[in-house]
Amino acid sequence: MSTGARDLNSDLDLALHLAKIADEISLKRYQALDLVIETKPDLSPVTDADKAVEKAIRDEIAKLRPQDLVVGEEFGSPDSLAGKYYWVIDPIDGTKNYLRGVPTWATLIGLVDPTGAVVVGVVSAPALSRRWWAATGKGAKCEFAGEVKEIRVSKVSKLSDASISYSDLIGWGERKAKFVSLQEKIWRTRGHGDFWSHMLVAEGAVDIAVEPSLSLWDMAALDVIVREAGGKFTNIDGQPGPHGASAISSNGLLHLDFLDQISLKGAN
Ligand code: IPD
Ligand code: CA
Ligand code: CA
Repeated sequence: MSTGARDLNSDLDLALHLAKIADEISLKRYQALDLVIETKPDLSPVTDADKAVEKAIRDEIAKLRPQDLVVGEEFGSPDSLAGKYYWVIDPIDGTKNYLRGVPTWATLIGLVDPTGAVVVGVVSAPALSRRWWAATGKGAKCEFAGEVKEIRVSKVSKLSDASISYSDLIGWGERKAKFVSLQEKIWRTRGHGDFWSHMLVAEGAVDIAVEPSLSLWDMAALDVIVREAGGKFTNIDGQPGPHGASAISSNGLLHLDFLDQISLKGAN
């Protein structure tokens, strides 16, 4: 077991330092004519930038936090995470955007404590000139074009007034029809996609973000930022945290109503 209290300020500083390292690599390769794109066994694409970012982050963590473990999208997870703090890395979230020249992509860095709670999160989207971060009990912040602001979720309390963002209609299974029909009852729907949907919830610009099929690295950093901005982060069955293979971020006020609307049990 890990013992002793962690200094979350120091962990957050490290996460921000890792984000800087990531941005330097990813921005240099963004829209490069010689970008190398391969197809992974799950048929999703990966670029040389995804791998270089994750490797650089892993090397820095090994140097500065040798006792911590790392879970990353491109280079895997240790056999056991029991009793340890571990960093969760998505080197580029939105790889399909990245490789086509759409600027909505980011490096996601989360730190998970031995209970499974995310205690530090950084999302860095250099092509959007934006970075978001949070640590437990310290609030959530966003930096845009050099200015840092505290962020808070919205106060919208009725689904009929809500703005909802999602990624696409893939992975919804039997819930797809419910989600599609809900769009006629709410104020606005847009597919901002990926980390961006959830960060817009944290900023209060969107009220609910939903993605029905995700991995831990897609969500760890988002979870603590949304919660520290005053929102709620669960999977589509309402299980709190980023360990449930799907994500709903909301301002908290709309969470239960939204879960109810897309529930397979509930009647619409
Ligand atoms: C993808 C994004 C997307 C989700 C996919 C993920 P990647 O991550 O998070 O929103 O729908 O399931 O694989 O591959 O671009 O890091
Ligand atoms: Ca991802
Ligand atoms: Ca990725």
